[in-house]
Amino acid sequence: MVEKIVSRRQFLAVSAAALGGLALFGCSGNAGQASSEAASASSAAKSSESVGAASNSPSAAEASAGSSASEAATTQEPSSESSGGKVLVACFSATGNTRAVAEMLAAHLDADYFEIEPSEPYTAEDLDYGDETTRATAEQNDPSARPAVVAVPDFSSYDVVLLGHPIWWGKAPRLMCTLLESSDLSGKKVAEFCTSGSSGVEEASAELEELAPGADWVGARRFAAGASESEVADWADSLNL
Ligand SMILES: Cc1cc2nc3c(=O)[nH]c(=O)nc-3n(C[C@H](O)[C@H](O)[C@H](O)COP(=O)(O)O)c2cc1C
Repeated sequence: MVEKIVSRRQFLAVSAAALGGLALFGCSGNAGQASSEAASASSAAKSSESVGAASNSPSAAEASAGSSASEAATTQEPSSESSGGKVLVACFSATGNTRAVAEMLAAHLDADYFEIEPSEPYTAEDLDYGDETTRATAEQNDPSARPAVVAVPDFSSYDVVLLGHPIWWGKAPRLMCTLLESSDLSGKKVAEFCTSGSSGVEEASAELEELAPGADWVGARRFAAGASESEVADWADSLNL
């Protein structure tokens, strides 16, 4: 496995060009409403880059049977590669759209970068939101799901943390809950960013903020896939970090 925290320079040097298409996703908080968009979801997932992974996802409410889901393992990893900078951009991106925004933020803020990786990478099939039984949708339908992540960054070296993720069924992917429940962000400024087909960040933000007691949640912003550098930089500047 590669180092999880990299300095901005290292990040820019190794990061692949962002992939992934803009999913034509209608705003919806209910997995069941997605069927008509299955095709576009599927193709977006297939053209994407898989990053990290979470574990098994017990199926949603229906699967009930006690498959509570979640394996929430995580390992605290020292920031051996930290540049000592005060700002960390930590991002999960299954198909590259949010990573592209994260890359722009890290560059603009001269921040370190941490890729949040699920222990079990999401496959294209896992991301097919046209099928309610597939992994990502099943996880989102199960509030207790806590997919494992490969590692949790050592937030202690940072004063400011920017957390990025896609929107899945109106919320942050459950592995963001795994991450926050394994972390202490108290006393830090935290800003959240996401990409989505059309849904806003509000629902995700409300949930994640609750999982970071004591953090100063200074902002949350949704970007479209393909957001411009100036749009991203303007938001970063508006936070007065
Ligand atoms: C399982 C799944 C659920 C999604 N749910 C939503 C949604 O509720 N609203 C929305 O606007 N987009 C939704 N999308 C689209 C993604 O938010 C969008 O493609 C995002 O840019 C992906 O980011 P990434 O490339 O960083 O993974 C969903 C995508 C997947 C795979």
